[in-house]
Order: sequence, then C-alpha cells, then structure tokens
Amino acid sequence: MKKSEAINLAKAKLPDRRFQHSCRVADTAVQMAKIFGANEKKCFLAGMLHDYAKYDDLKGMQKIVKKFHLAPEYLQFKSEILHGPIAAHIMKTEHGVTDADVLYAMENHTSGRSNMTLVEKIVFVADYIEPRREIPGVKGIRKVVFGEKNLDKAVFLITKANLLHLISKDRMIFSKTFECYNYYSNIKE
Ligand SMILES: [Fe+2]
Ligand SMILES: [Fe+2]
Repeated sequence: MKKSEAINLAKAKLPDRRFQHSCRVADTAVQMAKIFGANEKKCFLAGMLHDYAKYDDLKGMQKIVKKFHLAPEYLQFKSEILHGPIAAHIMKTEHGVTDADVLYAMENHTSGRSNMTLVEKIVFVADYIEPRREIPGVKGIRKVVFGEKNLDKAVFLITKANLLHLISKDRMIFSKTFECYNYYSNIKE
C-alpha cells in the first residue's frame, strides 16, 4: 500500500481529531524508525491506520471475530481492545495489506504482547507519546525513547501505566497485556 492511500483511507474514515492523531502517530513512528533502524514506510502505514476501526460498531466487530475465528477472548472485551485486531483484519481482507509487521503493529497496538517486532513496538509507543498526548508520565517516557533510546523500557513503562490504570478502575485485563508486562519486565534494562 502507498502512503497516500493510507492517508486517504484514514482521512475518509475517521473524525478529523482522530485523523490528526493518526498523522502524529505516523510522524512520531517515522521519527522513531530513524533512531531504532526500522523500516520507515512500515512505521508510517501502521501509524496512519492503527485506529482505522476506532469508531466501528461493537456488534459488527464481534461478528468479524466470530466469522473469521479470531481469538475468542476478544469477545470479552470492548472496542478499546477490539479496534486494533479489527483494523488489521480490515486492512488485510479489504485493502490488500500483506506485510506482517504492519498488520501486527495495528493488531497489537491496543494491548501490546510479548516479543513484539520492532515496527510493532514503535507504533505501540508512538501511539502513547505523540506530541499532543498529555498523559501523566508521558514526558518521562519521551525521555526514555529519545534520550535513553531504550524502546523496550518504554514498552514496559507504558504497559505498567496501562495496567495500573485499568486495575484502578476495576477493569478486566486482556491476556496479551499481562504477557507484554511480564516479557518486558525482564528485558527492559
Ligand atoms: Fe487505538
Ligand atoms: Fe491511537
């Protein structure tokens, strides 16, 4: 897929505010690709399209999970987890995206997972640290990425923050989020 095609798809589908976020994630991911030696185009495409299914109807997404035999655990979660795997599914089946890095990055940006690919880690982190994000602790994570240049530590800190947030609200935790936390807690230094 060409970059222009990804931009047009995101622009046509998403509200402007979310489209602008997608542009910032794509740009941040490209900036990070230069630092960490990743494929810039893959980072751009996955960044631009990661939230493509963000506002899709939950029932429709659940139908896709059942029809295409995606992980049944997805049915226990709402859009916050589902919009990643559904975006990857739509890009694969309707728009001819075949690159595994790009698909994994879209799929797992909502949860992380253990042993992510480089592109996957970059998009996961870029989504959290893009310049307009004002989440508590985000400045420290930007320093870990652009100062310490420690991508695995950034993945760990983001996953830890996500877990703490979910637990503080008595929310369920998707298994891949736990797996991500455990995996990166061991290799972050
Ligand atoms: Fe998202
Ligand atoms: Fe996002």
